[in-house]
Amino acid sequence: MALLSPTLIETGDLSITGSSGTRQDRLFHAIRDKIVANLWPMGGRLPSTRKLAEELSLSRNTVTAAYEQLVAEGYIESRLGSGFYICVDLPDHYLPTQSSRDDSRPPAIAQALDLNAPFAPGVPDLAAFPAAKWQSLLQRHAGRQSLMGNQDLQGLAVLRQALSDYLASSRSVHCDPSRIIITAGAQQALSLALLATLNRGDRILMEQPGYTQMRKIIDWQGYQLQTLNIQPYQGLDVNSVLTSESEALYLTPSNQYPMGTTLNTEQRLKLIEWAIAGKRWIIEDDYDSEFQFAHRPYTSLQGLAGQMGCDDRILYVGSFSKVMFNSLRLGYLVVPSSLVSRCLMIKDALTGDTQAHTQAALADFIQEGDLLRHIRKMRRLYKDKHRLMLDAISRFFGDQVEVLSQPAGLHITLRWQGGIGEDDWAQQAEAAGIVLRPLSYYEPAAHPTRDWQGAVLGFGNVATDAIDTLIARLAALFHHQPERSTSSESA
Ligand SMILES: Cc1ncc(COP(=O)(O)O)c(C=O)c1O
Repeated sequence: MALLSPTLIETGDLSITGSSGTRQDRLFHAIRDKIVANLWPMGGRLPSTRKLAEELSLSRNTVTAAYEQLVAEGYIESRLGSGFYICVDLPDHYLPTQSSRDDSRPPAIAQALDLNAPFAPGVPDLAAFPAAKWQSLLQRHAGRQSLMGNQDLQGLAVLRQALSDYLASSRSVHCDPSRIIITAGAQQALSLALLATLNRGDRILMEQPGYTQMRKIIDWQGYQLQTLNIQPYQGLDVNSVLTSESEALYLTPSNQYPMGTTLNTEQRLKLIEWAIAGKRWIIEDDYDSEFQFAHRPYTSLQGLAGQMGCDDRILYVGSFSKVMFNSLRLGYLVVPSSLVSRCLMIKDALTGDTQAHTQAALADFIQEGDLLRHIRKMRRLYKDKHRLMLDAISRFFGDQVEVLSQPAGLHITLRWQGGIGEDDWAQQAEAAGIVLRPLSYYEPAAHPTRDWQGAVLGFGNVATDAIDTLIARLAALFHHQPERSTSSESA
């Protein structure tokens, strides 16, 4: 029986242009990419080293070395006296197909793709950030040798000093630099706060709906999550905390995330009293305190407790993700003096010190007044965007949806009854390239106690003149109607 002769691989479109890596590397990657994309089939025979060298104007040694590397990594095999053959058979599920690519995306990756799409919550206006100033500050510090070695685990002293001045004046936070720990965003601050105060199995109260990233740490660390229902407009029922025996409470008192309520001073004082009397911990995430549009923000719980000389049960968490930009990944934790060394021990074990050059640039950004200037400018801009959002929502939805959240922060929370489900609407929006966060995203399980639907729209990074068009698009999906012309509607 005659054997079928193997497919001879056509290498006509093989390209090794580009400047990175040696020619051998580039050839290796070019061939490997063809195999992995299944463009060159299993069993196919590659041209001889001499022929390929001629075709690509390479030395024969270069081609031989690239082939040897492909053999070593198992992409091709060498058959004595016969040549080189592709020996990778990719499973079907590995092959990208146009139709399956989006549907089969795992949720985590789907989320990553959506991170900066229109209405993605928590993204500030990136175009309005003073990038040139930031670049000059980074440059100022980039070559400093003293910042290149190991650094203070707690964060650069100069940044902690600048931050303590800023927090004292803007949030009445009661601290000095020795109680501040610089972290990789609020996320690391929250991890440290939990690890420093709780033991596995301890109970922690948390708002529901609430900050999903916090819930992840609670679940992963094996603490007992006890949820506190957040009612539209009323927010947290403080009495339900006062009767609780939980070891800790995590909350977002300035602008409850995502329901957009706030706690007044009387409620804050009751919570402080609860913590002190029962020797419990409060983790205060002062999220969005900088962006209140209707009134001045309330004094932080930590600051109130400090004024009364009893802030030793409160851990205060903040972040630069919203007031500057997300990828900066800098935040802070202000802790009672008794917890500093424990927090540092944990930080040391988890990550070691924090990137120093950005800390130095940030210290200057704060000290030279740029942070406050930027926050003031952004408060005006977000206030305008918030007004435009309300206006567009009212025009395109009429009374079919209701805005629950207070005028603050970078997002708006909607509620409606009947009609499209929140998850369906979110899916349709995603297909249209818009992020609409269903409220279920912020809840540990399905929402058994809700008889209404809700969704969150982040407007921080949406251009002012795009708001109308995007809201019109969402309204069209909401009503299951073909997209309407926005020009006539917005007139
Ligand atoms: C409630 C809350 N806290 C903190 C943060 C900031 O987190 P990070 O500093 O890790 O970006 C966010 C971001 O969206 C948030 O929603």
